[in-house]
Amino acid sequence: MNLHAIRKASAHLLDRPRVLACVGSGLSAESGVPTFRGPDGMFTDPRIARYTHVDTFELEPEAVLTWYQERRLQLQGIKPNPGHYALAELTQTGDYTIATQNVDNLLEVAARSLGIDIAIHHLHGSLNHIRCHRCAHGFNDFDLEIDLSRSPSCERCGGPLRPGVVWFGEALPEEAFSRSAAGAKNADVCLLLGTSGLVYPAASLPETAKQFGARLIEVNPAMTDLSDICDILVRGKTGEVLPVMLKVVQDKI
Ligand code: OAD
Repeated sequence: MNLHAIRKASAHLLDRPRVLACVGSGLSAESGVPTFRGPDGMFTDPRIARYTHVDTFELEPEAVLTWYQERRLQLQGIKPNPGHYALAELTQTGDYTIATQNVDNLLEVAARSLGIDIAIHHLHGSLNHIRCHRCAHGFNDFDLEIDLSRSPSCERCGGPLRPGVVWFGEALPEEAFSRSAAGAKNADVCLLLGTSGLVYPAASLPETAKQFGARLIEVNPAMTDLSDICDILVRGKTGEVLPVMLKVVQDKI
């Protein structure tokens, strides 16, 4: 962990800045949720990469739903890591907008356990949400009452129920994206936390923040497609770096 880079980054988080935090699967990696790309990523299995495309659901709904049900079940046993807790606490030290590509709810769980109430914009939806592929009727299912592997139907229109995530080939939820884009235009600082920056339009948010004058700080053990436009690169895991950044900020304010 590069303490010099962490101190430099933390200096931009004092004085209650306006911050856009762009969150990717790296934030949840230390909780045991695999990322998508990279040597241990879920996309090393080409079948899984296909399951994140809407066309595959239309061709092979049972296979796609069974895989998503497995992911929903796996999440039941997974807990937030120190990166989630530190980010939740950091939001109390400024005006934070959180734009996450993650479909887990680990950041919400961490925040709630600390008594922190934050709005998290889920750009790619949530595994805790279920909706009808035909009429879009949707609801939260935190207790896993719906078993997607049994191909359930919508009570309103009889259409196929599906996870409330965004697949390739589908639009992002309008409100989550427009609020995140507003956060990007307004930000003093943009934090890139555990994302490869390869998937658009989510990856356009740091670019917008940069155009509108924000400082970009990347926390990631590896180079990404957005590293080149960042002002500060903190090479390390979010579960290790964010708690140190939080401590520096808390000690100075
Ligand atoms: P990726 O799998 O593309 O990238 C994960 C990033 O996390 C990489 O840059 C890793 O270096 C980094 N990383 C790994 N471990 C880390 C750790 N402990 N701390 C910090 N960073 C770590 O995941 P995303 O960028 O989230 O979309 O992927 C974006 C989208 O691609 C996903 O939301 C999903 C996928 O296709 C859809 O399915 C629509």
